Amino acid sequence: MDFQELKENINKELETVKNSRQLRDFANAYLGKKGKIRELFSELKDLPIDEKKTLGEEINNFSENIRMQVKELEENLKKQERQFAENREKINLALPGEKIETGHIHPLTIVRREIENIFELMGFSVVDGPEVEDEWHNFDSLNIPEGHPARDALSLGKTLYLETGEVLRTQTSSSQTRYMKKIKPPIRIIIPGKVYRYENTDASHEINFYQIEGLLVDKNVSVANLKAVLETFLKEFFKKDVEIRLRPSYFPFTEPSFEIDMSCAVCAGKGCPACKRGGWVELLGAGIVHPNVIQNGGLDPKKWKGFAFGMSLDRLTMMKYKIDDIRWFHGGDMKFLKQF
Ligand code: PHE
Repeated sequence: MDFQELKENINKELETVKNSRQLRDFANAYLGKKGKIRELFSELKDLPIDEKKTLGEEINNFSENIRMQVKELEENLKKQERQFAENREKINLALPGEKIETGHIHPLTIVRREIENIFELMGFSVVDGPEVEDEWHNFDSLNIPEGHPARDALSLGKTLYLETGEVLRTQTSSSQTRYMKKIKPPIRIIIPGKVYRYENTDASHEINFYQIEGLLVDKNVSVANLKAVLETFLKEFFKKDVEIRLRPSYFPFTEPSFEIDMSCAVCAGKGCPACKRGGWVELLGAGIVHPNVIQNGGLDPKKWKGFAFGMSLDRLTMMKYKIDDIRWFHGGDMKFLKQF
């Protein structure tokens, strides 16, 4: 090959070299033992001695020059490549970390779990029932016959009916007779769950809220048992000595029936804004299960007695955390929710 041509080729190709690997290939092709420059030297032998000398020297100089360029380039490329790798892997320990947002548990769930734990320690099982309920379980089986004002859709009863004739349960009591039929007594269960009512919402009313139903069925059951269980639960729940009082009330499915009040956890019964200065707060409905209900649950009312209670999980959560409006729970306000 012609020396001039080779020179041009070499210079051109050297310019295209972008990384160490390409440089190595280049050096092998031109400067190596079997490289193009060596080849050129072997072609010199047929030339007259003068030309051989001058051209030989020229080639030598050129080859030396290229060798130096290669060396320099090699160092630069290595430096660049090292820098690149370092930049890519560098961890800047001075930068603040990225905070990973984790979810957290809703206050109603926190309190429900706490309540479940307490009742489980007292030997109760936690069960649940359907939110879409038939009228028989929500009403008839609980001594609330057709025409009873509690069944009313829009006035007293606030019941939400479905087109199928089913209802969105208005009370977790609807599961009482389901479980009487399902498990053999003695029965000791709590039934936490969502209930629905057609309400005008305000600080203490929502169209859906949560209840915790309690049901105990056994041979000898008295109001004293009911009182003891609830008192133990409330002491454990509020971590305070609370007093309770039973006021006569009326539910079609319990006889006798009570409204149960608790001495105010905020002021210890002295009277404060939270208890409207009365010292007592209304907490739940309860009573001795009506014989008709025991019968509707498929059990013999002569043999089996029971007590039942129903409390609002929302109310208990509000009292525990001193929340003043039930609408915070479903409002989705992060400023509220993040406090728990
Ligand atoms: N189900 C009643 C209510 O929603 C509460 C209750 C439950 C009363 C069990 C007595 C016994 O108001």
